[in-house]
This record gives sequence, structure tokens and C-alpha cells, in this order.
Amino acid sequence: MAKRDVRFVCQSCGYVSVRWKGRCPSCGEWNSLVEERVADTPTVPKTKVEVLPIDRWEEEDYRRKSTGFANLDSALGGGLVPGQVILIAGEPGIGKSTLLLQVSDRFTAHGRVLYVSGEESGSQIAMRGRRLGVSNPDVLIYPQTVLEEIQKTVEEVDPSLLVIDSVQTMYSEKLESSPGSVSQVREVTFRITEICKERGLPCFIVGQITKEGTIAGPKVLEHIVDTVIQFEGERYNFYRVVKVIKNRFGSVGEMAVFKMSDTGLEEVPEPSAFFVSERVNSPGSVIFPHTEGSKPVLLEVQALVLPALYTTPQRRTQGFDVNRLSLILAILEKEANIFTRDSDVFVNVAGGLSVKEPAVDLAVAMAIVSSKKEKPVPEDVVVFGELGLGGEVRAVHFGDLRIKEALKFGFRRALVPGKLNMEVEGIEILPVSNVKEAIEVLF
Ligand SMILES: Nc1ncnc2c1ncn2[C@@H]1O[C@H](COP(=O)(O)OP(=O)(O)OP(=O)(O)O)[C@@H](O)[C@H]1O
Ligand SMILES: [Mg+2]
Repeated sequence: MAKRDVRFVCQSCGYVSVRWKGRCPSCGEWNSLVEERVADTPTVPKTKVEVLPIDRWEEEDYRRKSTGFANLDSALGGGLVPGQVILIAGEPGIGKSTLLLQVSDRFTAHGRVLYVSGEESGSQIAMRGRRLGVSNPDVLIYPQTVLEEIQKTVEEVDPSLLVIDSVQTMYSEKLESSPGSVSQVREVTFRITEICKERGLPCFIVGQITKEGTIAGPKVLEHIVDTVIQFEGERYNFYRVVKVIKNRFGSVGEMAVFKMSDTGLEEVPEPSAFFVSERVNSPGSVIFPHTEGSKPVLLEVQALVLPALYTTPQRRTQGFDVNRLSLILAILEKEANIFTRDSDVFVNVAGGLSVKEPAVDLAVAMAIVSSKKEKPVPEDVVVFGELGLGGEVRAVHFGDLRIKEALKFGFRRALVPGKLNMEVEGIEILPVSNVKEAIEVLF
């Protein structure tokens, strides 16, 4: 029998200590160490593996199957690979179960789908199904939380796709810690992954996100699964974006845009057209071609600068890091004499998307200057570039992709980092080397 032991495990990062501590020495989280009884020897299933030449393995691995959503397939690198385990993370109520029920329905083209739900009863899911128009008898709903039972059922049903909704509700009878604890979440993910690899069964695992924006018990999970996708959006806005954060079978940074309606999620095939369609060309509005993967999307960055209401001026952002905003305001003051100390500054990425790539810096800066000067940015211009502390505009990745996307949607000029040396027919490239020059060119 496995030797049993008491340990204290950080519920945020998985750090293990023999003694209780008020603060996790690894991630710095307070009060996150919880007593867990864990089996000393991890339950490693003994799978038979073959020795095959690399080209044979490749054939094995790349029989991809469509999820039924073209944009999701392409974000994932072309569909699901046999045995691929995808962790789908997102805040409560964002639409994870909705998406997966729709994918389950469409995936029945490849055989039966086993949808294991630990959060909702069968009738609750059936109700959602009715609303979404999913009544396919090949979608098998299985309200269950015990891992060992799920394993047995997978063997009986032999599904073509497995959905686990959510990992935090599942537990193994072999461990004594409670569902949702790091040990359980890790064990469940690990065992599900083993089962899937053995059977060549693709699987979606839902992971709830904690308030800090991390998947509960998370960093531990990211290593185990093949792919991590994040489901984002404002709950009160109808756009939803799936972002690929890690992928062993495709590139990261890819995204797929959906629209939430009462009949479920619909693909948005041309997100750029969608996001710029509502633009009114008023001061403070700048179009930014955003991309972290192969598919760019045009976003509208909005800034509002106005005299401060209180003695401490406010800085508020939506979809953009507020610390980065402070930095940009400091650079504008030092390098271009644009003073905002006595102003409230608000920055918003329209459509509810959040942008983390630094290429958006120049667009944010130009939106602020435009609002401050009360002069609109010319309608046919897109802006991108990273700002350095000295006000220099730094080169960014995927310059050509961004420019081509702008061209496709009728933009005729692009304000870009000076280092970007390229010519594209139909669009004028305006290279700038620092923020001051950018302001001169644009206004
Ligand atoms: N009757 C309805 N009409 C329109 N939209 C609805 C309706 N009911 C739910 N929704 C949409 O579905 C979303 C909830 O979807 P879903 O249950 O799939 O989210 P989830 O991410 O699985 O949530 P949880 O974390 O609670 O499991 C709501 O935020 C709402 O946008
Ligand atoms: Mg759900």
C-alpha cells in the first residue's frame, strides 16, 4: 500500500510544504496552504507503448477532426488531434458549457460524445440543449463526479469526444483531499490525460478561473494538458473570444471570435469588420491591428482625457493594463510635452477584448493625444508599435500581417515603427522612430 502522508499544499500554485505557513514562499499568496493527505506514490497507470519510427508516430498524431466550428479548428491548428487534451479556462458564466455543448453536438459527425457534468444535472443541461437546438441522441450527458466511474463509462461507451465540466468538481476516490483541491485537480487531469492518450480520445476539460485570473490549481494543470485555451469576454457584451495560450499541436496566440445570442454561440468569420463597424471617428479613437498569432483583428482603441474631477486624477482602463497606461502618460509628458497630470484619463478597447501585447502602446498614446488635442485621427489610418521608456517606437512582430489586414478593410495609411521596412501596394507606410515624430505625422 502507498505510504500516506500529511502535507500542506498551496491551492494557488501547488507548492508543497511539510509545515503550515501563512504565506506561500513560492507564489506569495496568503493563507493558501491547505492540509491534504496525499498518497506518496502517484498513481501512474501502466500503459503499453510501442517503439515506432518517428514518421509512423507523425501519421498517428495528425488525423485531425473538426470541432464543427471553422474558426475554433483553425485557432487550434486544424481541428482536434487524437488523444489531445484541451483545458478550457474562463470566468464563471462566460459560456464554457454553452460552447462545449455546441461542439459536442457537431462532433457527433465522428461518433458519440460523452459529456460528463459535475456542475449541472442532466435536466439542466437538457434545458440548455433545448435553447441551443441540441437534441442529438449521440450526445450522452453523464452527471458524475467520481473519476473511477468516469473511467469505467468511457470504456463502455467508447466515445469519440470526452467533455469534463468542470475539473474542479471531479475527484478520485483514491485521494482523501476534497474536490477542487490542488491534489485532486492534478490527479483528475493526470488520469483523464492518461485515459485519453491510451484511447486516442480527444477531450475538453473545463477549468474555472479564480478571481486573480488564474485557473484554479492551474499552473499545475498547464503542464499536463496539450492545449490551454482561454475563453474571454465581458459578461454583458456579446463578444466572446477563445485564445490559445498553449498548444502542442499548433501555434499559440491564435484566436477565434464568437457572438453570444440566446440560441448559443455563433462564429464571427470576419471579426475585424465587426469591431470597426461601430466606430465613430471622433477624437480619441484609433484603429489598432492586433495579433498574437497568425490571424490579425482590427480593434478600436478609445481614450478620453478630460479635466480631473478630484485632486487625484483618475486612470481607468478596460481591456488594457492600467500600469502600462501610467507609463505611456509619463512617456508622453517627458518626450512630447503632452501633460495629463491634471486630467482624468480613460482608455478602453472597444468590443470587450483585452489586449496584452505591447504593440498596442503607440495606438493608446495616439488615442490619448487625439482626445487631449480634440482632433480626430484621420479615418484611413491604423497605428501600431511598442513604446520604449525613451519615447522610441520599437519594432513589433507580424508587421506585414497587420498591414495586410488593414488594407483588406479599406485603410490606406499605417503609422508603424521606423524599423519596419516594407512596401505594400495600396497602403502608405508612415514609419516613425519616436512618439514625438508620430504626433507630428498624425496631427
Ligand atoms: N436564456 C438565455 N438567453 C440568452 N443567453 C443566455 C441564456 N441563458 C444563459 N445565457 C448565456 O449563457 C451564459 C452562461 O453560459 P454557460 O452556462 O455556458 O457559462 P459557463 O462558463 O459554463 O458558466 P459556469 O462557470 O457557471 O459553468 C450567460 O452568461 C449568458 O450569456
Ligand atoms: Mg458551465
